[in-house]
Amino acid sequence: MAPRVDALYYFLIAVTAFFTLLIAGLVISFAIKYRRRSKDEAGVPIHGSMWLEAAWTIIPLVIVLVIFGWSSSIFFSMARPPAHTLDVYVVGKQWMWKFQHPDGRMEVNELHVPVGVDVKLTMTSQDVIHDVYVPNFRLKADVLPGKYTHLWFKATKPGKYHLFCAEYCGTNHSGMVGWIIVQERAEYEQWLAGSVGQGTTMAQAGEKLFRDLACSSCHQADTIGRGPTLVGLYGNKVTLATGSTVMADEAYLRESITNPRAKVVAGFQPVMPSFQGLVSEEGLLQVLEYIKSLKATSSNATGVVPPSAPSSPAKK
Ligand code: CUA
Repeated sequence: MAPRVDALYYFLIAVTAFFTLLIAGLVISFAIKYRRRSKDEAGVPIHGSMWLEAAWTIIPLVIVLVIFGWSSSIFFSMARPPAHTLDVYVVGKQWMWKFQHPDGRMEVNELHVPVGVDVKLTMTSQDVIHDVYVPNFRLKADVLPGKYTHLWFKATKPGKYHLFCAEYCGTNHSGMVGWIIVQERAEYEQWLAGSVGQGTTMAQAGEKLFRDLACSSCHQADTIGRGPTLVGLYGNKVTLATGSTVMADEAYLRESITNPRAKVVAGFQPVMPSFQGLVSEEGLLQVLEYIKSLKATSSNATGVVPPSAPSSPAKK
């Protein structure tokens, strides 16, 4: 994204510099040219000019419309992650960055990614507002408690890139820094193989939480329990008791866990207790990964999640 952002930035600088010099130059030269030469000298009356009025209305309009169209197109590219990405979950806290890979690997203040692969970050905070900022990637977004925000990037050159927190978040805000480590494919595979994983994927850890918190006693895979089944839920529309429909995305699932009465599914009673404060942010993300893994069409409707192959992150 960086070359596109920079091109627009330089264009804005060029337009601004051109008009600054033009206006400053005209102010100075007119001040000299039309200065009062004698005490009784009176200026020529001005009656206006239609052409002049039209020109200085239409030319700036065209320029700002170009800027609008150009920046909108960049904004949409930034806001819409591609369909197939390597997903990484980010939890900000005072004062560190925690990264969780779907295969269960965790990192603190360091994120390893392969070069040339689209990476999507799903981010949240477990305390105050933080902000992920990777200047080299022209990447920046707030990380908010109680909400998921997203960023995506495709690193084109291997290397170590600074990661900063760009939202004042307390005493050690300035120390809330880290690195994005972009590696060649082979090197990345080596890192994957060498680093100590937990041995369980995020979805498997989520499934364990799902059982430990007794979610499974009401949300059953094959039969209708006291709560709706979660198989095939993610990414589909849900009809609520109010008659309206919502998309079962990360935000909806999160709300349904922390504040279950906000959106009650049609045909069910509002009997689910809130799990606010009972699950860590990492745990919530693991449960989300587990729910996402419950695909209606596949054979894992019983809740058994196949371990994802760590050697092919791009396929995720
Ligand atoms: Cu986190 Cu500043």
